Amino acid sequence: MNITTSTQTLTDVAADLLAVVVTDETLETVLATLDEAFRGELLTALRNDDFKAKSGATAGYPSFGNIAAQRLLVVGAGDGGPNGLKLAAGAAGKAARGTGAASVALGVGDLSDEAAQAVVEGFVAGNYKFDKYKTGDDKKGPVDALSLVGTASQAAINRGKAVSGGQNLARDLVNEPAEAIYPESLAEVALGLANDSMTVEVWDDGQIEREGMGGIMGVGRGSDRKPRFIHMKYSPPGTPTKKIALVGKGVTFDAGGYSLKPSAGMQTMRCDMAGSAAVIGAMKAVRDLAPDAEVHGIVGAVENLISGNAYKLGDILDMYSGKKVEIHNTDAEGRLVLADCLHYASQLGVDTIIDLATLTGAAVVALGDHFVAMYTDDNGLSDDLLGSADDAGEQIWRMPLPQDYKSQLKAEWGDIKNVGGRAGGSITAALFLSEFVSVDSWCHLDIAGPAFLDRGYQHFAPGGTGVMVPTLARWIAG
Ligand code: BES
Ligand code: MN
Ligand code: ZN
Repeated sequence: MNITTSTQTLTDVAADLLAVVVTDETLETVLATLDEAFRGELLTALRNDDFKAKSGATAGYPSFGNIAAQRLLVVGAGDGGPNGLKLAAGAAGKAARGTGAASVALGVGDLSDEAAQAVVEGFVAGNYKFDKYKTGDDKKGPVDALSLVGTASQAAINRGKAVSGGQNLARDLVNEPAEAIYPESLAEVALGLANDSMTVEVWDDGQIEREGMGGIMGVGRGSDRKPRFIHMKYSPPGTPTKKIALVGKGVTFDAGGYSLKPSAGMQTMRCDMAGSAAVIGAMKAVRDLAPDAEVHGIVGAVENLISGNAYKLGDILDMYSGKKVEIHNTDAEGRLVLADCLHYASQLGVDTIIDLATLTGAAVVALGDHFVAMYTDDNGLSDDLLGSADDAGEQIWRMPLPQDYKSQLKAEWGDIKNVGGRAGGSITAALFLSEFVSVDSWCHLDIAGPAFLDRGYQHFAPGGTGVMVPTLARWIAG
């Protein structure tokens, strides 16, 4: 999407759609010239429609030749802050996709850098729809040209584009069927992001086995599509100010293994690589934002299926860290994959590790579809991530990480069991992961709820959301 700015008068802007962003306070002044062009009918119509400028509220009208644009959309921005503007721009992007508008002018007024970035991210996210497998000729395409009517710095627009590019990549990867995105093809996507500032190394199953990653190998054994281990590394031009590793669960399909999922629970399990999609998307955004941090992206990519070779209940896996894990449920596979990745990341000399995973149904039971569950013992990191999420318009909720719950993971034969029972299922999953981390600053984000939407939410279409890419981009690149 080509994004430019313009200072034209709203009535004169030629576009398929003119969307004007308002708050309840600014509505009458912002719409004054347009209202004149509509001979006073615009404000009357808004009043009759009882329009309130809550974030993302819309009222659309044909222009009837009164203005240069084909259609007019009035969009509410709540309190007019960056997140209100993001939702407004998102609603405009979504409406544009609904009508197949190719050119959109978005009346936004004078934007701070923070607001301009939020507007770009919101619009691109709202305009996104995964329809590549629809063949009908009534398909509505995305916007080619977006003009921000007002002022916004090109640097802020570019930052918004970088974040959106990473988020859209994550959404595509999640939405693609498991027949298209499997461990090897996921690794190819990561390899395709390499450039002068980013290296990407991929281990195949032979190498993963030789290195001793028994968690990844165990889970991956049941599939003909063999596991891959992916290590991306972004290096800044100068000396890095901090060193970070992002770790993602890349289960490209989770059938549950011999602890088989029922059909309904399996339907959308192509989304079980959303943690890795967020990592790969965030790495793309980081590469384009060029912060002065060193950033590693680590992904364990496997399919969790059934076959004569699949891992079984009662098996004891020999993990990369040397620990032995007793398998009590083959559907608790994500933590086994992540455990090997976390041990690897712990050897990189990084200050902080953040992992992202669609890890537990229990996190969805606890927090619903729209909050990420956060686990960490590092209060500073927790504050920073909560702050970045606020700035990004994303929702994280901090959960407890009580050491005494570890007793639920006590094993009879190995060192530790891979499940801790029904009570606190998302907490014991996090505690399991903590056994494989050996840096002081670590955070686990369980994104099982928000990573994939069965129904749309805000301006997001159903399917993958690319959740946490905007938050991570802000946390890493300010
Ligand atoms: N991939 C699932 C978790 C999941 C559930 C993600 C719903 C997205 C939506 C994970 O591998 C899993 O199956 N977890 C089990 C763990 C249990 C066996 C301890 C679960 O949550 O039921
Ligand atoms: Mn599972
Ligand atoms: Zn899973």
